[in-house]
Amino acid sequence: MIVRLQAFARETMKPWKWAALACGAVLWSAPSPQQAPEPKIMKQGFGKTPDGVPVELYTLTNRKGVRVSITNYGGIITSLLVPDRNGRSRDIVLGFDTLEGYLKGHPYFGAIIGRYGNRIGQARFTLDGVEYKLAKNDGDNHLHGGLKGFDKVVWKAREYTDGDGLHVALDYRSRDGEEGYPGNLDVNVVYTLNDNNQLRIEYTATTDKPTVVNLTNHSYFNLAGEGDILGHVLQIQADYFTPVDQGLIPTGELRPVKGTPFDFTTPTAIGARIDADDPQIRFGRGYDHNFVLRGAAGTLREAAEVYEPSSGRVLRVLTTEPGLQFYSGNFLDGTLRGKGGQVYAHRSGFCLETQHFPDSPNKPQFPSTVLRPGQTYRSTTVFEFSAR
Ligand code: BGC
Repeated sequence: MIVRLQAFARETMKPWKWAALACGAVLWSAPSPQQAPEPKIMKQGFGKTPDGVPVELYTLTNRKGVRVSITNYGGIITSLLVPDRNGRSRDIVLGFDTLEGYLKGHPYFGAIIGRYGNRIGQARFTLDGVEYKLAKNDGDNHLHGGLKGFDKVVWKAREYTDGDGLHVALDYRSRDGEEGYPGNLDVNVVYTLNDNNQLRIEYTATTDKPTVVNLTNHSYFNLAGEGDILGHVLQIQADYFTPVDQGLIPTGELRPVKGTPFDFTTPTAIGARIDADDPQIRFGRGYDHNFVLRGAAGTLREAAEVYEPSSGRVLRVLTTEPGLQFYSGNFLDGTLRGKGGQVYAHRSGFCLETQHFPDSPNKPQFPSTVLRPGQTYRSTTVFEFSAR
């Protein structure tokens, strides 16, 4: 049909008209840039810290319509656009539109957490016979690296593209004694977005004195982009969890999840048992617990999958870490206004923090978090997005 039309046009039209028509047809049949955007990284200014340090925002867009923005202030993922089952994109992480929002204080939205993600009991630990006292910022305990953790520092950033995807590499030197930790720690975190809709986070660190390290990312997800997260269906690859005391410090026990509200070995709605009459649920005010992941730590394997029924969005989490903190946003209370003026209500976001177990520096029976000079700390986590 097209061939016959072309022949007709060639016979009946002046040559310049035919050329213009043919050219138009070629343009018309080429895929529009919106259908298959070229992967790209955009860098913009994102304001300045109170002491005048400029901060950048890097936006990575892949060919499949996933777009992630990351700032070198705290290494924070500020937005993450993911298509639903009909191809409609929404931002699926909690956060703020501007740097000021983050500077005012917030519960670690999207940030890199260190030097030690999660809690250290009594804010102290002993290593090689020396006791180290850490900042107390959670009652008597130490949480997420202290008063000024890695979530509140400006990282040196570099963006680049190669065969593996789009990258933002972040570097930070945590000084000997910072928040009470021993040793200068050189930390490198690389975020990578590829065309398989995977956002990979690779952490490495080295030290010049024995220390402890446990790095993670603290993104709050809401796969519907609004509302509470109770209808999200969660599966965690864990047969055990680490029960906690009232201060959320693990007791040291590994408890089977079987027969408890912590059994997510088969896909289960987050809200199904979140208000169960269970002491562990009471201590956490919902879920705020470390799960002991199946399989060998150090190998990248599936940790969890979350499915949101109304949008069809799916988040798969893979990690090399031995543990996963599932936090159901219990401390969100509607006082924070985030992007576009959205109110972050109780349980409107959940975190899946890949990690070593909380309080490991005081629990010799847990996998070790000690890093010594000459060793390299390595950890990889992948957030993979799809829709069904
Ligand atoms: C912790 C919660 C804490 C939250 C801070 C989570 O990783 O497990 O207990 O309240 O971070 O926002």
